Amino acid sequence: MSLKFAYWVPNVSGGLVISKIPQKTGWSYEDNARYAQQAEEAGFDFALLQTRFIASYGADNQLEAVALASALATVTSKLKLIAAVLPGLWHPGTIAKAISTIDQISRGRAAVNIVSGWFKGEFHGFGEPWLDHNERYRRSEEFIRVLRQLWTEEETNFRGDFYRINGAPHKPKPSVLPPVFQGGNSAAAREMAARVSDWYFMNGNTIDGFSAQIEEVSRLAAAENRKLNFGVNAFVIVRDTEEEARQVLRDIIDYADPEAVEGFRSQVQFAGKASPEREGMWANSNFDDLVQYNDGFKTGLIGTAEQVADRIIELKKIGVDLILTGFLHYDEDIKAFGEKVIPLVREKEAALLSTSAT
Ligand SMILES: Cc1cc2nc3c(=O)[nH]c(=O)nc-3n(C[C@H](O)[C@H](O)[C@H](O)COP(=O)(O)O)c2cc1C
Repeated sequence: MSLKFAYWVPNVSGGLVISKIPQKTGWSYEDNARYAQQAEEAGFDFALLQTRFIASYGADNQLEAVALASALATVTSKLKLIAAVLPGLWHPGTIAKAISTIDQISRGRAAVNIVSGWFKGEFHGFGEPWLDHNERYRRSEEFIRVLRQLWTEEETNFRGDFYRINGAPHKPKPSVLPPVFQGGNSAAAREMAARVSDWYFMNGNTIDGFSAQIEEVSRLAAAENRKLNFGVNAFVIVRDTEEEARQVLRDIIDYADPEAVEGFRSQVQFAGKASPEREGMWANSNFDDLVQYNDGFKTGLIGTAEQVADRIIELKKIGVDLILTGFLHYDEDIKAFGEKVIPLVREKEAALLSTSAT
């Protein structure tokens, strides 16, 4: 499979970095409709819409992911729309219906990213119970099983600890079964991915860090007779010289909003660090890493177009199937990535294929 490209939809304000550096990135519907059209034109395959319900760390305004995906479906024709969904604040029966509706509107381009949660403040704010780390994953797994049953079976009956479905029909069925993505790096996340997800998203990391996760999750999936696809997060800075690109990164970090980064750090400790093995997302992230919500600087897609394309090929070689990108200036960077980086990656992929064939 050729590498897939996805981009983070900036549907919350403040962009993808917790920094006061000026950004040419909007969050409104109009901006996002334009970015989605530019992205499909530029050769992106997927758009990932974030779920965030209340103000936090500079993200003062948020548009809801499922509702926005539905609108973006009407202004695009190729892009697959991955709407993030947070079990605990949604019921799987209502989300199954919403996603099947997007499947109809988009003619088969709907997908979901099931997130298991790190932001206790959202649950507290809405007066909903906050489960402990591994219980959240047990609930997410049931959520995914219910979604699939509703999308594929005539009538769904389900008896779980979190959901009970009593002979519920679901029509129309989606025309294309929506792929299930998930994030999370803890042991519970990896095990759940192996059992029920189609795609496993990783926070930014080193090549060795990604390799270890891909190997482990693939091994867990093989034990279930399953195979997964892998996506990695990366914050991309492409400039004419490596020095210019590195300077942009230094500026982003120099302008970081320390209070907001600290607030984010205090919430994300409910993720990976709260898992029984105390590993997982953000467990080892330092201040600079946390300036990008998902450790995206660590992946190293920072430099000239050639350097970035080479690094992407390194990722492909270790088994990465999808690059999830975020940018500083969406107004310019999506288009530029499509013009400068994607064609280079395609050339290098073709060369790779021909050398491996000989
Ligand atoms: C690519 C990616 C996208 C994510 N999107 C969201 C999101 O939109 N909203 C959210 O609350 N959490 C999001 N998460 C967080 C995870 O779903 C999960 O709650 C968190 O990673 C906890 O991970 P852990 O298993 O390492 O503790 C995302 C994670 C990744 C890797």
